[in-house]
Amino acid sequence: MDVKRVMVIGAGQMGSGIAQVCAGAGYSVMLHDLKEEFVERGLGTISKNLQRQVSKGSLQEDEKQEVLTRINKSTNLDNAKEVDLVIEAAVEKIEIKTNLFASLDELTQPHTILASNTSSLPITEIAAATKRPEKVIGMHFMNPVPVMKLVEIIRGLATTDETYAVIEDMTKKLSKVPVEVNDFPGFVSNRVLMPMINEAIYTVYEGVAAPEAVDEVMKLGMNHPMGPITLADFIGLDTCLYIMETLHEGFGDNKYRPCPLLRKYVKAGWLGRKSGRGFYIYE
Ligand code: CAA
Repeated sequence: MDVKRVMVIGAGQMGSGIAQVCAGAGYSVMLHDLKEEFVERGLGTISKNLQRQVSKGSLQEDEKQEVLTRINKSTNLDNAKEVDLVIEAAVEKIEIKTNLFASLDELTQPHTILASNTSSLPITEIAAATKRPEKVIGMHFMNPVPVMKLVEIIRGLATTDETYAVIEDMTKKLSKVPVEVNDFPGFVSNRVLMPMINEAIYTVYEGVAAPEAVDEVMKLGMNHPMGPITLADFIGLDTCLYIMETLHEGFGDNKYRPCPLLRKYVKAGWLGRKSGRGFYIYE
């Protein structure tokens, strides 16, 4: 099967980035969210990103316009009947995803592949909400999507080789690098990354060092582009906590226990860059 039309569900940070790279690679994209204002906000982010490329000379103004015209707005899930692939990037709640996938299963054509950009939830469980588990797959992009090369592709228990091959091929057409992983909590990316971030927060919690010092150690000592505390703010502290809870619950192992300081910040509404305050303060 050749994918031509894609629906991206969720016009937030990840969804708008996914829509941008799909449209940039020539796919016809429908950017869907619950409210028109959310879709508009996502389109605004895409437009700003493309304008930055135009200012730098890496994109022509007419190419920018072409990319934007390939993105259509949607607030009606019925539009999913028109696409070959749905990439879901909605909130990270298993009940929301299973309900959404059950609806998509009813609404879409039989050949349509249903992918989730979940960062840690079980693909097999999401697939079980549909009558086409063989066509359900994880397509986990990294933030910021237009920049990061990796797409982790997660096979659920029933995902077929054919579905995998379509998604692998499309990932390459997006100029990204597919890496195949199996369906375990946090997959590979977040199983390795989040305990490091959680441990970095523990060092702050236990008074080992200030956030700035922890970040300097990892940036200058390990050549990370961002220190782990800055990265946590960038990803969103609520997302970091949610992923740690998924690991903790999924493996039942105390080594994944979320740091109490992380919980406290999330309870305070200090969610990182997106809320204006996390471990650092943003203007
Ligand atoms: N959207 C689009 N493009 C962006 C961007 C964004 N949000 N942020 C930066 N860029 C682009 C810039 O325009 C610039 O492009 P050019 O090379 O064409 O000029 C390029 O990225 C580099 O940006 P900067 O020079 O401004 O800054 P930098 O060199 O410090 O890079 C960074 C910024 C790419 C974000 C870098 O700091 C980095 O790689 N950080 C780590 C990111 C990371 O680890 N991401 C994974 C998070 S985990 C995840 O996503 C999975 C999950 O499930 C939670």
